[in-house]
Amino acid sequence: MATFYVTTPIYYINDAPHLGSAYTTIVADVLARYRRLRGADTFFLTGTDEHGLKIQRAATERGIEPQAFADEVSELFRQTWPKLGCAPDDFLRTSSARHKRGAQAMWRRIEQAGDIYLGHYTGLYCVGCESYYTDKELEQPGGICPTHKKPAELVKEESYFFRLSQYQERLTRFYENNLRFVEPESRMNEVKSFVAGGLEDLSVSRTTFNWGVPVPGDERHVMYVWFDALSNYFTALDEPADNGKYWPPDVQLVGKDILRFHAVYWPAFLMAAGFADDELPRHVVAHGWLTYGGQKMSKTLRNTVSPVALAEAVSPAVGVDTVRYCLLRSISFGHDGDFSIDDVLARYGADLGNTLGNLLNRVHPFAVSEPGLTPAPDGPLETALFEAIVTAAREAAEAWDHVSPTRALEATWVGLAQANQYFDKAAPWAAKKSEPARVPTIVSAVVRALEAMSVLVCPVMPSVSAAMRAQLGLAPLGSAIGHDQWPLSLPAARAELALVRGEPIFPRFSPEKVAELRAAFTPH
Ligand code: MSP
Repeated sequence: MATFYVTTPIYYINDAPHLGSAYTTIVADVLARYRRLRGADTFFLTGTDEHGLKIQRAATERGIEPQAFADEVSELFRQTWPKLGCAPDDFLRTSSARHKRGAQAMWRRIEQAGDIYLGHYTGLYCVGCESYYTDKELEQPGGICPTHKKPAELVKEESYFFRLSQYQERLTRFYENNLRFVEPESRMNEVKSFVAGGLEDLSVSRTTFNWGVPVPGDERHVMYVWFDALSNYFTALDEPADNGKYWPPDVQLVGKDILRFHAVYWPAFLMAAGFADDELPRHVVAHGWLTYGGQKMSKTLRNTVSPVALAEAVSPAVGVDTVRYCLLRSISFGHDGDFSIDDVLARYGADLGNTLGNLLNRVHPFAVSEPGLTPAPDGPLETALFEAIVTAAREAAEAWDHVSPTRALEATWVGLAQANQYFDKAAPWAAKKSEPARVPTIVSAVVRALEAMSVLVCPVMPSVSAAMRAQLGLAPLGSAIGHDQWPLSLPAARAELALVRGEPIFPRFSPEKVAELRAAFTPH
């Protein structure tokens, strides 16, 4: 039985979820929904990364204990995802007992293999990244972190080290044998050249603060937050025990800023813990940053957009699906992309309203069956339409399989545009007079195309898919393990078309609403 295990990074809880962090989770959710429709037994993991100096400091600033702070903000993340249509199967918190047990077990495995030793560390550390830097990686003068634009701090302490230097050769061989381990390809090259430049042993514990997972056998130390955090992808599957069937991850989504941790340190930790090459994660897929007014959206830069507020403002009914669609369609996956409300407005009007919604609206007036009328056989126009839809389904599947949301949606919308063109050419309003038997044929063809489209759009727009299907007289799509529902052939023609005329799914926005949205979501 095909399984599919997809992960998001676990989010730092120094910040409420914003549109940038939501982007990763939405992509993961869409991939999980896609795989479920394809019949795979799917597991989608997300969670929160709660330890480390950054969080301890944030809690101190608020004057509360780190655990209380973590409980509060983590809950905000947990509650946000369903409000964006995301349905993770598990939500892992690194401060949970199950995770701590798992991270300590991972530590012991690596220690027993001889790859952890005690030493001293002196170096420059950026608390924002929870990462050590060398001088040449920092912006000079001043030793400034390139991401956070703040000076790195000098740190000197006793520390446990992981023998990362021992893994250069095996990692290199692993990359050579798994050319698509990191995607896109340009990022794979970046990782390879980082490793080719030589690997130093990695400091994996800290003694100057205590908000972390205690190092087993030496509680003066807590684990380096990245050691603790990366192990979440494994510890989450520890309980219940049968969750082990999902290992290893098929797709691990990461922002480009945290690629090195996932593509170098993480497989090296796993190798040290005794995992064979074919038990390592299959694909680490790096996306770019969502920018707003041209700058990375982040709390530090105070330019975040709340995804829930945005979705609500766009529309209580289809705002969530609209935001999901626009993010995936407009941000070319792998590259940075700017969020703009004008883009949302344009796509709402054109792609969603005029192309998707309109096809449904147009067919309704002709859907009243004419008793006693025998449908004409399908003609060349219908054959061309069916081919276009199946091509869209095939190309979209190929793109989803390669984690290319933008391409998948482009292919889907080519299919929708062709269905609209079919309607123009088949012209049921004219056929009604000249060739009435064509009308049921045309209606049936469009309904079959729309039914297929309700599947293709479902991973990205689950509520819209359900609304379309309600108007087509069909139940919402569910998933069934082992049952592939992707319309690689066209749904069968139905004898009885029980269409239900509903309200337009994407009603036009009033000029006042457009102005309000622009005012609320334009960067200052
Ligand atoms: N806690 C670590 C990850 C540990 S995984 C074992 C972390 N957390 S984070 O909250 O800072 O970032 C989580 C993810 O959100 C990263 O993939 C990051 O790239 C992504 N994003 C944060 N801001 C973003 C944008 N503005 N745009 C796109 N993704 C962004 O790193």
